[in-house]
Amino acid sequence: MSESSNADTPSTGGAAPVAPTLDGVSRTLLIPLLARAEAQSLWPGVAFDDAAARDLAARLAVDRAEVGTDPFPMRLCISRSLAIEEALGTLLSEPIERTLVLLACGLDTLPVRLDATLAPARRARVRRWVCADLPPVVALRDQLLPASERIRHVRAALPDQLDEIAAALDETRPVFILEGVLPYLDAAQVADCLAALGRLAPAGADLLVDGYHPALLAFSRLGNTFRRMRTRFRFGIADPRDYAGMAPRIHFHAQQNLLRPLPWHHRKRAWLPSLAAGGKPLATLAQLELTPSAEGVNSLRSVRHD
Ligand SMILES: C[S@@+](CC[C@H](N)C(=O)[O-])C[C@H]1O[C@@H](n2cnc3c(N)ncnc32)[C@H](O)[C@@H]1O
Repeated sequence: MSESSNADTPSTGGAAPVAPTLDGVSRTLLIPLLARAEAQSLWPGVAFDDAAARDLAARLAVDRAEVGTDPFPMRLCISRSLAIEEALGTLLSEPIERTLVLLACGLDTLPVRLDATLAPARRARVRRWVCADLPPVVALRDQLLPASERIRHVRAALPDQLDEIAAALDETRPVFILEGVLPYLDAAQVADCLAALGRLAPAGADLLVDGYHPALLAFSRLGNTFRRMRTRFRFGIADPRDYAGMAPRIHFHAQQNLLRPLPWHHRKRAWLPSLAAGGKPLATLAQLELTPSAEGVNSLRSVRHD
């Protein structure tokens, strides 16, 4: 449990635990949660199973009407989860220990899923998870998902209120995972966020970042999910290579097209935005690197990873 929420949560004095509440919590986190919980009905046959998400959705008794009935963004969330798991598997094939930092974690069950699917040698390279979100979400996460010495829950507010994340990092090279949050920030905040992550990792880090073409965001109101939630998207990116120009030390390595794995009949919605995007991928997972700063290069010389 996060120290912060321990301090903030009133004692129940031995009474029954307080029922989890979504008060003060962004409803957008329900979209990926339900997508993971309902993956097999949304995308029959997909190689994705998330019993922890099913359990969470049941415990929260989510009102399905709140999330809308549009399957497209939910299928995209499943594709995004699969891409992140695959990218982390590859990063963990390198023989160094990692701290995996899940920014704007919501109720993402990634630590549980990855622990269940990683080969033992790769799992052993995960020194720690740091799951960070706004205080009400962390309080909810504390109630619903186990925190431990290995899986820490901390409060953070993007772009740059990241002190509790800084306190949870050590000399291990971090992987920062930004999933489903950048579209809610504006371009200046995204740049500030990338710069702030750079300051957290002077010796370098890897970044996994999802991104959406402005054309896809413009057409997002075709479905009832974002319309019903009155979601306002602020940041889209036409070419994930452009992250590299947004903050110092950011290098682009690769991108994965998140729509490609979907069966064609689940991609029909993308036809019009694809036309508007001139054929560029509409939804991507970018793998970026934060190269070491001058200060980080010096400290790297004195730290040995094995
Ligand atoms: C669409 S949800 C994604 C949750 C999670 N990444 C997932 O895939 O399940 C967006 C999340 O971003 C969080 N969020 C929004 N603005 C934030 C900010 N400024 N700083 C930190 N988290 C934020 C919300 O609380 C919410 O949990």
